[in-house]
Amino acid sequence: MYNGQIIDVPQFIADAVSSIKTQVGNDVVVLGLSGGVDSTVTALLVDKAIGDRLVCIFVDHGLLRKNEFEDVLKHYEGMGLNVKGVRAADRFFAACKGITDPELKRKAIGKTFIDVFADEARKVKDAKWLAQGTIWPDIAESFSDKGVIKSHHNVGGLPEDLNFGLVEPLKYLYKYEVRQVGAALGLDSHFLGRHPFPGPGLGVRCLEELTPERIHILQEADDIYIRALREAGLYDKIWQAAAILLPVRSTGIKDGRRTYENVIALRAVNSKDAVTAEVINLPFEFLQKVATEIITKVDGVNRVVYDISPKPPSTIEWE
Ligand code: XMP
Repeated sequence: MYNGQIIDVPQFIADAVSSIKTQVGNDVVVLGLSGGVDSTVTALLVDKAIGDRLVCIFVDHGLLRKNEFEDVLKHYEGMGLNVKGVRAADRFFAACKGITDPELKRKAIGKTFIDVFADEARKVKDAKWLAQGTIWPDIAESFSDKGVIKSHHNVGGLPEDLNFGLVEPLKYLYKYEVRQVGAALGLDSHFLGRHPFPGPGLGVRCLEELTPERIHILQEADDIYIRALREAGLYDKIWQAAAILLPVRSTGIKDGRRTYENVIALRAVNSKDAVTAEVINLPFEFLQKVATEIITKVDGVNRVVYDISPKPPSTIEWE
């Protein structure tokens, strides 16, 4: 049992591949790719074990970063994964309509994800197993003795008629170990170094009700922020960075006219395991430059603030 301590990555890979082979035999396995490191490393491990008997499903819930669906789908195809892209943004926005409570929103996104995924999985002939990129902190946080902190949608069930067995090769690993395994499997450094991104995506960073218009505003602001972090050589020094669209508006002035528009919060934290996190002291000039670019270029935003709250008590995501 690898209880959070991998000493020997090649040995872990050999053992994982061999136990996947034993577990699934000649069956077909389905897997939901999210664009994140965990599901991608899981896919590479299962692919190594059973090749094209792994069918990957990549759902566009409309809550991904700007251009992410197209870029990542291409990347997956380039890695030789057997992957099907499914565009389903409309179903997610319809399911989240009118919902402002964060947990209800997570549940609605999670349920819709399961519905869309199940619809696709039913089309896969002879599928008997579901592979998931669950890692140790997902399990620890979802079932803490203090009750559910936040519901993680990759810990939970598909409809009973599908009756899949679970394949979760990473479930005793921490994120940094997953990255080590990914590197050993040939995942390129750009992909491997991607910041963690939650299953519900920008849905938990666009506070209160989700609409295509508000997600569009957030995507544009997030794109400016992440691009600037990369250009300044800061991205790889950070565990996770995010732009958040707040549910408040504030007064501003543009071209001599009063505006009453949205506020974007920027967050950047360092962490080892996501259980605790410290705020990063980003250079003030950098923050000023990003704020100016967002306010100038993103329609509907007239104010940018920087989140200086550590975890605990403040979770990394705002919802
Ligand atoms: P919090 O906000 O709880 O986040 O401090 C801890 C880490 O988990 C990520 N996160 C999620 N990942 N599904 C995921 O796969 C989720 O529902 C989810 N919620 C939070 C978060 O981005 C951070 O890295």
